[in-house]
Amino acid sequence: MKRDVIIALDFESGEKALAFLDQFPQGEKPYVKIGMELFYAQGPDIVRQVKGRGHKVFLDLKLHDIPNTVKKAMKVLSALDVDMVNLHAAGTADMMRAALEGLVRPDGSRPILLAVTQLTSTSQERMEKELLIQRPIAQVVASYARLAQSAGLDGVVCSPLEAALVKESCGADFLTVTPGIRFAGAQADDQKRIMTPALAREGGSDFIVVGRPITQAPDPVVAYRRCVREFLGQ
Ligand code: C5P
Repeated sequence: MKRDVIIALDFESGEKALAFLDQFPQGEKPYVKIGMELFYAQGPDIVRQVKGRGHKVFLDLKLHDIPNTVKKAMKVLSALDVDMVNLHAAGTADMMRAALEGLVRPDGSRPILLAVTQLTSTSQERMEKELLIQRPIAQVVASYARLAQSAGLDGVVCSPLEAALVKESCGADFLTVTPGIRFAGAQADDQKRIMTPALAREGGSDFIVVGRPITQAPDPVVAYRRCVREFLGQ
């Protein structure tokens, strides 16, 4: 699997997202992430438009429902020709296996399927008090990652600080896709635990998801290229 930088297209409208992508020269097609805000605002058309421009797309909708519903929803998403999708491992192995079945296209191909283990916004305290999971969060992350792997998934979305733990638990080939990336010395925004692109690489991230450090930069193309350079060690 080729490691890469994925830009989080966190824009409120398709117009703004496409105007952002217009800044890149023809021939430079960054991998992008479309999340709930943009997808729910614009519908599947925004995915078709971005794919039509030649970008790879991680559709970050974090599905979580009964297996049959997730299977059918995944079939619809897979038909959009997206490259990566995700779900919550908490939906159980049955749900994850059903999702995989739904993703397989008539030609046998399918997008990469990732699991969210515990959201990085969930604290140890909340997990214990509200979700009634009485284990150290690192243990829960590793265990959910192994569950996802046993169900046939390709990897997990996790904090860059958890990537090494996931690799230790599931092996080097199990993918880790990590948000929470900031350039050295930059502001953290609302992210609590952050890493630089170079440290994420050393920690074992296969893909880093980067939003504001690129989208809000004075020159997003320069910021994207810096990110790629630092992450790929070029
Ligand atoms: O702007 P920033 O680089 O913080 O954006 C990170 C992206 O990754 C956002 O789209 C955010 O929703 C997503 N994300 C995250 N932390 C997670 C899961 C997803 O920041 N645990």
